[in-house]
Amino acid sequence: MIKIEIQDLHYTYPGGVEALRGISLTIKPGEQVAMVGQNGSGKTTLVKHLNGLLQPTSGSVLIGGWDTKKAAVAKLAARVGYVFQNPDEQLFSSTVGMEVAFGPHNLGYGDEKVSALVKDALALTELSDKTATNPYDLSATWRKMVALASIISMDTEIVIFDEPTTGQDALSVARIANIIAELRKRGKTVITITHDIDFCAENFERVIALSQGQVLLDGTANEVLGQENILAQTYVDPPQLTRLGKRLRLKETVRNQEEFLAALKKK
Ligand SMILES: Nc1ncnc2c1ncn2[C@@H]1O[C@H](COP(=O)(O)OP(=O)(O)OP(=O)(O)O)[C@@H](O)[C@H]1O
Ligand SMILES: [Mg+2]
Repeated sequence: MIKIEIQDLHYTYPGGVEALRGISLTIKPGEQVAMVGQNGSGKTTLVKHLNGLLQPTSGSVLIGGWDTKKAAVAKLAARVGYVFQNPDEQLFSSTVGMEVAFGPHNLGYGDEKVSALVKDALALTELSDKTATNPYDLSATWRKMVALASIISMDTEIVIFDEPTTGQDALSVARIANIIAELRKRGKTVITITHDIDFCAENFERVIALSQGQVLLDGTANEVLGQENILAQTYVDPPQLTRLGKRLRLKETVRNQEEFLAALKKK
């Protein structure tokens, strides 16, 4: 069971942009967390610290007690999987099957284990009939699925999705929600960056809002999505129903139809 501990993390890009300005967070094993915040608030920079793609300028990041400044990136890869915001930065193999097998092979797993992991990841992402296809012959929607599958196949305890639903149609968004639900069942820690506030409200119990490289809000989805005025500082609007609930002066913050109707009855 791998805990994530981030202590007073600061990160400045070589060009001088101060992207993270003192972030402290603990994420428990098996938690599902959504990360929201305006463009440039530091979400991607933050999660790239979790698998050692970026190293703190100051402060520390511990993954199950391993300091990312000391642990080899190859070792961290066995604990943390990161699906890039843009799949084209991630995919390089000539077939879907090879792409999805690359990660677990690279972790040194034997052939039998690799093929079981690949089969599972392809089934979960509904790619089983596309193993021989070149990822670049697929639509952007399916390419995104390949990017997800190639990380899921590594079976890491921590899985990070950077904007998985951007540009996806409703069917694909539902598919991604199913994948996250399955990973939750398996006890994985899932961190998902998203601009889709309905997706956030429907699929995550904990929400972290970033603003200008700092944590603006961190709490249960209801606590965070209920803070309309504070969220406005990072240009995040709570879901329509949540806002309507506030205008109707419902006692509790609501984030879906069931909660809305239950709160309305109590009024
Ligand atoms: N490679 C880079 N070099 C220099 N500055 C960068 C680089 N990547 C990001 N930044 C800057 O760091 C800050 C945080 O960017 P980051 O990509 O982490 O934000 P984000 O919250 O993921 O945004 P988005 O929602 O647009 O993906 C921004 O000011 C951005 O311009
Ligand atoms: Mg980003």
